Amino acid sequence: MSTRPFHPDLLKQIAAEHGTPVFVYDETTVKTRIDDLARCLTGIPARLLYAMKANHCPPLLNVMRSAGLGIDAVSPGELDLCLRLGFDPANILYSANNMTDEEMHHAVKAGVAMNIGELSRLERLGQMYNGSDVCIRINPQIGAGHHAHVVTGGDKSKFGIPIEQMDRVREIAAAHDLRIIGLHQHIGSGILRTDVLWDAATVILETARTLPDLRFVNVGGGLGVPYRDDEAPLDLETFESTIVASIRQFVDSHPSADLEIRFEPGRYFTAESGVLLSRVNTIKSTGKRTFAGLDTGMGHLLRPALYNAWHTICNLSRPDAPPETYDVVGNICESADFFARDRDIPKLSEGDIVAILDTGAYGMSLSSTYNMRPLPAEVWIHGDGTVELIRPRQTASGFVTAYLSAYGRH
Ligand code: LLP
Repeated sequence: MSTRPFHPDLLKQIAAEHGTPVFVYDETTVKTRIDDLARCLTGIPARLLYAMKANHCPPLLNVMRSAGLGIDAVSPGELDLCLRLGFDPANILYSANNMTDEEMHHAVKAGVAMNIGELSRLERLGQMYNGSDVCIRINPQIGAGHHAHVVTGGDKSKFGIPIEQMDRVREIAAAHDLRIIGLHQHIGSGILRTDVLWDAATVILETARTLPDLRFVNVGGGLGVPYRDDEAPLDLETFESTIVASIRQFVDSHPSADLEIRFEPGRYFTAESGVLLSRVNTIKSTGKRTFAGLDTGMGHLLRPALYNAWHTICNLSRPDAPPETYDVVGNICESADFFARDRDIPKLSEGDIVAILDTGAYGMSLSSTYNMRPLPAEVWIHGDGTVELIRPRQTASGFVTAYLSAYGRH
């Protein structure tokens, strides 16, 4: 079983040197994904933003910045982090939902474009910052995604201003001299079907035609990656011949002289660049099922528990052992704490090292210390192959000390 894009020996070496659990990220894979997408956007005035919620470890953000990417930031924390790492405010879109006035002031002061997805917030912005520039997040009433929890368009979604309310948007903007310089949508996450992306792109481009002051149209992220062997990767050729081709025509016909087309993927850039290494602590057969219990859990990788998401699991210690069927479970006191059910994996023994693949997006960034389990370590593989421990694993005692001191107790 392939441990793409990593060499299994390197992963074993990292586990031996740095222990487990540990997330490992591969810089070259991130750069390849950026290049893949950038290549199919040639010929249009495109700017890539990175949705940093997918993974915000500093070396990764530095790669994005060096490659000229901007940022989709959704909280004051994300905004401050990317500013501190030197991203140009002109290339940051602030897309918090349920924004407070404080957040709004903070983002305006930082000089980043405000992406507004609620009429009441637009009104507040107009009242407090009359005459300012704004980006409108629309809900094109088309949604998609790998799971219902990640669909962000359509009539059940809390995100964006429903496209039918654009007249109201114009009224509020006119009343407060707001200039609509950006139009944005993001319909969901983990989308592998280009036809859905195309349908949604059509809606935003149609709306954008009616807004002469636009400086950018942001068609969102959501580009999927294949997690299972039987899934095909996103068909970039079709993406280019449909969506990119029509964007090209759109840009030529739009009245705005320097219109930028933005995309803001997270997962597409980083998912396949990451792996979570863990050790098998316990093998337990009940007669009906065999559980392989790991030294990590849903606190470190929530996606299976939250979305029933599939991550390929490789036995690094004994890749050629005959397969057996396992429920691969974590060390958290919840029945939802699993990584795989009924999964055939080369026979596992206690002490074996496993690699949980495609965990570079929404792994560490979605993690928690539930059950008071400290977070895993993180290792970065530089483009030249150098391995660097970028975040050591917290020890249990260090973790408890930090916890107590947050309460002012020692
Ligand atoms: N832009 C906006 C406004 C978003 O809300 C998101 C993701 C993205 C871009 C990036 O989406 P991506 O390209 O990564 O699909 N935790 C879930 C994914 C939730 C995504 C939330 N918003 C998962 O692990 O599948």
